Amino acid sequence: MNMEPKSFQLFPESASNFAPSVDGLYLYMVLISAFFSLLVAFLIIFFAVKYRNRPGAGVPKPINDHSIGGMILEITWSVIPLGLSLVMFAWGASIMFKESRPPKDSLNIYVTGKRWMWKIQHLEGAREINELHVPVNRDVRLTMTSEDVIHDFYVPAFRTKADVLPGRFTTEWFRPTRIGAYHIFCAEYCGTKHSGMIGTVYVLSAEDYDKWLAQGSGEGSMAEEGESLFRQLGCANCHIKDGHGRAPNLYGAFGMKVDLADGSSVRFDESYTRESILYPQAKIVAGYDRIMPTFKGLISDEGMLKLIEYIKSLGDPNGVISERNLPLESPDLQKTGPMMPPASEMPKAPAAAGKAAPAAGTATGNQATGRQQ
Ligand code: CUA
Repeated sequence: MNMEPKSFQLFPESASNFAPSVDGLYLYMVLISAFFSLLVAFLIIFFAVKYRNRPGAGVPKPINDHSIGGMILEITWSVIPLGLSLVMFAWGASIMFKESRPPKDSLNIYVTGKRWMWKIQHLEGAREINELHVPVNRDVRLTMTSEDVIHDFYVPAFRTKADVLPGRFTTEWFRPTRIGAYHIFCAEYCGTKHSGMIGTVYVLSAEDYDKWLAQGSGEGSMAEEGESLFRQLGCANCHIKDGHGRAPNLYGAFGMKVDLADGSSVRFDESYTRESILYPQAKIVAGYDRIMPTFKGLISDEGMLKLIEYIKSLGDPNGVISERNLPLESPDLQKTGPMMPPASEMPKAPAAAGKAAPAAGTATGNQATGRQQ
């Protein structure tokens, strides 16, 4: 099979689940527009000829515009187009709702726009630039962000496009239905080489896709790399699994509602994660102190995606590393938590259990504000 995207075509190929419905709506709108354009053009010419000024005709009699017939005519030509446009509205809205709600078990792929290229990152670790490999007949969800200005990820053959914004995550999803190669365009003017910000989607059979993934980067999965970043940056020292850390527990937190100190709440999504890492003071979780430093400038955009993917994988029953525990070397946890050695083994603890307990209790007390949830 020829794996090059076709060059110019009047009508793009239809290669996704959305293509038939978008094409149907498009056809409906074209037919309606064509019908009324022709009707109006015909009537203009017809009436111009029929009621032309004939020699000796004189001044025409005024039309009685309060007649019932006039009223019926007017209602008819208002109600019919109204009905036709409402069909357009309802049809278009239903497609839009469908396009904006990726199915839960979609294959997630990260896309980063940057003047002037598309960087793609697969959860398994494979990375590509201006190319996107996806399996056929599988729901694919793109989580997209930009490193600089607004771009727009557009695949005409899939009939889907969405803006790609700096500092935010947007999504688009599709289910490719035909093996082949299709164009990616940037559909938002983003600078001098906007027209060159193009790429190719390769829709592969499931086997070919697995083969392609297997010959990927050789690095770990995104979540695994995110996990090592999580340790390197010291996040693991405060975000402790049992919730006894100075910072909220991140296990099973992604996708949930988070109650904030100011009484409002927010959904734990990609954008919230990013904001909390770069601007930790922006939204404080109820019951926690303002102690998290910013990691702005310390994390690349790709590192950010890996961290997000790691946090997502925590507590996700299907997650890559959901069962792996966070490190327990946190000093707080060793002093006060379940890792505390028996009092008799503690150095300089003459009174043993009796006195050691209140001391440990004080230490916990200091932390108390930091861990209610
Ligand atoms: Cu990116 Cu236009």
